[in-house]
Amino acid sequence: MIERVEAVPAVTTTPRHVAIIMDGNRRWAAANGLPQIEGHRRGMLTLRRIVIAAAKSGIEVLTVYAFSEENWGRAAAEVSTLMDLGATFARREAEAFAREGVRVRLIGRRDRLPIALREALAMLEARTAGGTGMTLNLAVDYGARSELCSAIRTLAEDVAAGRLDPDAIDEDAIAGRLSTAGLPDPDLLIRTGGDLRLSNFLLYQCAYTELWSTAVPWPQFDARAFSGALAAYAQRQRRFGK
Ligand code: FPP
Repeated sequence: MIERVEAVPAVTTTPRHVAIIMDGNRRWAAANGLPQIEGHRRGMLTLRRIVIAAAKSGIEVLTVYAFSEENWGRAAAEVSTLMDLGATFARREAEAFAREGVRVRLIGRRDRLPIALREALAMLEARTAGGTGMTLNLAVDYGARSELCSAIRTLAEDVAAGRLDPDAIDEDAIAGRLSTAGLPDPDLLIRTGGDLRLSNFLLYQCAYTELWSTAVPWPQFDARAFSGALAAYAQRQRRFGK
């Protein structure tokens, strides 16, 4: 089923890159007397709506935290549910995202994902590869510290092989080895569910990102709330330490 989602109202300053920590699925389910899976299922529907709203509002890059490395520590049944929902999401949204010009990229490790999810996400990436609108980074089995370890490993390999002078290691050399290479840093980080922490998400990239948090749990977050976050961002004065 394809839902129509209205574009959020224009604000004076639209962030180029928005990152979202989608939190509060289980608390929303518990508060409504529903099983955990229903919270995640509703969260998946919210994700589709926010992707379309973001694409229509002129945002260039949206990066969402769908599954962290730490999430492997959850009960096996919940992990399995999340993997199944991820595959369902990829298969169900491929056409709609392609139609909106959304180009999907996976950030995080692929090798530990179940084959069905890996294939569904690869299909989603391939189906949307020609998109010229918004880039959607899906962070799945992602952890910022691991991402930094990988970047540092490639720097060390390049130095050891004589391809890189240690004096040439600067911020661009590091940023260019992260999974977000070539993309602008997030301007705005949204966290739903009321907590105030980064949870190992985009630690290097968020050095000067504006943070915005809401108590609203992710399943209840909608285009209006998203628009509120963009409006709050437009009021911020960004000085980048100057
Ligand atoms: C956080 O709520 C949400 C998650 C860990 C999963 C988010 C995933 C989706 C919305 C869809 C899955 C999509 C893919 C591509 C895998 P929580 O479970 O931490 O809730 P709580 O804070 O209330 O405990």
